[in-house]
Amino acid sequence: MCAHRIDRPADLDLVRDSYDRVADNYAHMVTTTGAGDIRSHPWLKASVDAFADSVKDSGPILDVGCGPGTVTAYLAERGLDVTGVDLSSRMIENARRLYPRCRFSVGSATELDLEDASLAGVLGWWSLFNLPREVLPQVLASFARALKPGGFFLTATHVGDEDVTRTEAYGGVPVRWTTHKWLPEQFLTVIEQAGLRPVAELRLLDERSGTGLVVMAERPA
Ligand SMILES: C[S@@+](CC[C@H](N)C(=O)[O-])C[C@H]1O[C@@H](n2cnc3c(N)ncnc32)[C@H](O)[C@@H]1O
Repeated sequence: MCAHRIDRPADLDLVRDSYDRVADNYAHMVTTTGAGDIRSHPWLKASVDAFADSVKDSGPILDVGCGPGTVTAYLAERGLDVTGVDLSSRMIENARRLYPRCRFSVGSATELDLEDASLAGVLGWWSLFNLPREVLPQVLASFARALKPGGFFLTATHVGDEDVTRTEAYGGVPVRWTTHKWLPEQFLTVIEQAGLRPVAELRLLDERSGTGLVVMAERPA
């Protein structure tokens, strides 16, 4: 049981409704074009493979903000004991349709009931950038507590120092969310202050295939 309350983002309902609206287009995009699928992006696939190799056989993995379940299913195929969770119930409906043998549930990163030292790994794969700047550190601290000593956290996010308001996404669907971009040094500091030790950082610099930052961090033993 988590005794540490996390502040509820003021826009959580707007973000949830927005992802519910784009969920079908997003799932269609990933499954038909390969965009958003690690299998078609060598650097992202390598990062997830490094995470999988590091946590394999160590216990349960939680893919927070799993969307239509692409990475959850990839990790399950690799033999990991993985569960996906997402704020959007429509994303989870798509995940269950696409990967009926995988485990998924609906929930917010800010409201997960995580047992201390219960997880071998946590993913926040392109899924934490909607969290307000003051909320992200609280969520990361909850992940750090939930990881077993020696467990790993893998995250990917957008780089910058702006808060970008999105009003449409994935094929012109109306949305209302803010993308909070992070400068790499600030992002690493927030991760460290949450109690995790960064072990690797990958900068994605190609505008055509998508820029961003991947960080893997460990809960110190
Ligand atoms: C860009 S998608 C990425 C989905 C998936 N990780 C992938 O790589 O395909 C962002 C996902 O984060 C989810 N999300 C946003 N805020 C969240 C929150 N507070 N808790 C859980 N999931 C959240 C959205 O519903 C959406 O499915």
